[in-house]
Amino acid sequence: MLSRFLSVLIFIHACLAALPCTLQATGGDDAPQLLSAMQSCSVVTIPKGVTLSVGTRLNMTGLSNKHLSLKGTIKFTPDIPYWTGNAFFIPFQTQVTFWLLGGKNLRVDGGGTLDGSGQIWYDTFASNSSLLRPIVLTLFQATDVVVENINMINGPEWFNLVNEGKNIVYNNLHIDARSTSSHRISNTDGWNIYRSDNVTIQNSVINNGDDCVAFKPNATNVLVSNLQCNGSHGISVGSLGQFPDMFDIVENVLARNVTMTNAQNGARIKAWAGQGVGAGRVKNITFQHFVESKVDNPVVIDQCYMTSASACAQFPSNVFISDIFFNDISGTSSGSLVAALSCSPDGRCSDINVNDFTVKAPSGTSKLTCQNVNVTGNAASLFPTCTITG
Ligand SMILES: *[C@@H]1O[C@H](CO)[C@@H](O)[C@H](O)[C@H]1NC(C)=O
Ligand SMILES: *[C@@H]1O[C@H](CO)[C@@H](O)[C@H](O)[C@H]1NC(C)=O
Ligand SMILES: *[C@@H]1O[C@H](CO)[C@@H](O)[C@H](O)[C@H]1NC(C)=O
Ligand SMILES: *[C@@H]1O[C@H](CO)[C@@H](O)[C@H](O)[C@H]1NC(C)=O
Ligand SMILES: *[C@@H]1O[C@H](CO)[C@@H](O)[C@H](O)[C@H]1NC(C)=O
Ligand SMILES: *[C@@H]1O[C@H](CO)[C@@H](O)[C@H](O)[C@H]1NC(C)=O
Ligand SMILES: *[C@@H]1O[C@H](CO)[C@@H](O)[C@H](O)[C@H]1NC(C)=O
Ligand SMILES: *[C@@H]1O[C@H](CO)[C@@H](O)[C@H](O)[C@H]1NC(C)=O
Repeated sequence: MLSRFLSVLIFIHACLAALPCTLQATGGDDAPQLLSAMQSCSVVTIPKGVTLSVGTRLNMTGLSNKHLSLKGTIKFTPDIPYWTGNAFFIPFQTQVTFWLLGGKNLRVDGGGTLDGSGQIWYDTFASNSSLLRPIVLTLFQATDVVVENINMINGPEWFNLVNEGKNIVYNNLHIDARSTSSHRISNTDGWNIYRSDNVTIQNSVINNGDDCVAFKPNATNVLVSNLQCNGSHGISVGSLGQFPDMFDIVENVLARNVTMTNAQNGARIKAWAGQGVGAGRVKNITFQHFVESKVDNPVVIDQCYMTSASACAQFPSNVFISDIFFNDISGTSSGSLVAALSCSPDGRCSDINVNDFTVKAPSGTSKLTCQNVNVTGNAASLFPTCTITG
């Protein structure tokens, strides 16, 4: 009996040891082998030249001490019927994702590529705006994570979401969404940070069609450094205060050394106003050393986001904005507007500083506007006397 028990143990051990930690493509769905390798190996390698095809969702939550060395490619299948029914649901802004990665002490690196097969999603979304398009990589309940030296291409929608994470570093990512048809690469945000603390995003190049980085509700202690953003909607706080009975906080954010080209916005803060919306606070946010080119709205505060002027006057935003610094913002806009600081009535913005501001319109007069705010800092005199309403 004992010897039989031992031989079973030896057999199990042999099976585990035989599980490959260096993966090759199976020719079918590679999700099962990737999932079991991540469970049983501390280092999982996808060699250069190998493309794993992932056709079913990846639940990699609750891992610890894992290293995924991605030298080759992980490509998510363009199987819209499967993914629209099976991608993981994220209970925030009706999002879904291909991949949940969570746990403690995780590393993803290797110089390889995550490919979201975005083109079919761009083309299908063009005629179905309710299509649920998966986020490529979601860090979910993850602590002490490094994602480094990775290319992310063709995201169907957002590339990265950090949801309930802590101590997260993204370093040297190349993010690129491009459409080969006339259909737009809508909502291809580089990063969204939600309910997460201590996140660093640095040394990365992003070509996309929505926010380069967005700080969503309860993103705190975030450093964004050395980014080159092209084609994006900017580095954005918000939108906040959208949902009734919710309190949204974005605090202690430093975004520095960012080049922003061909973008809708440069440095932006947006919060909802109007009847029946939520509340919150945006505090201690610094945008520093932004070099902009062809940007529609180089510097923006919009505290009446998606709200008519009359509704905003009657129901000012309950997201209070304070201790904001726009320091050393240079370059050119795309039109005459170079800065627009629009706050709700009733003093909902305080300590708003603009220093060393040299953004110019490509030709003619540069326009700066403000409303319901006392602008301070050495560039305050560039702003006209702000209209005060309410
Ligand atoms: C993912 O796997 C974990 C651990 O097995 C499980 O608890 C969790 O419910 C799964 N998550 C989803 C969204 O299926
Ligand atoms: C549009 O996408 C939604 C959500 O993915 C799906 O339920 C619906 O059937 C699609 N509509 C059409 C016309 O394909
Ligand atoms: C923030 O995260 C970094 C990188 O993971 C870590 O070194 C640092 O100790 C963390 N800071 C705090 C206050 O936890
Ligand atoms: C600013 O970022 C660029 C990359 O966009 C980098 O080459 C440069 O060294 C950074 N400057 C500083 C002062 O870190
Ligand atoms: C930058 O964005 C513009 C407009 O979106 C695009 O045409 C161009 O190819 C992008 N350049 C790079 C280097 O990605
Ligand atoms: C943000 O954090 C505050 C304070 O901990 C909490 O009351 C609020 O519910 C959180 N909001 C969200 C959207 O998680
Ligand atoms: C403001 O935020 C910065 C950047 O995250 C941080 O270093 C600093 O300590 C914060 N200041 C206060 C007063 O919390
Ligand atoms: C601007 O500052 C003055 C003087 O401190 C104050 O009375 C006024 O309420 C402030 N206005 C706004 C819109 O914050």
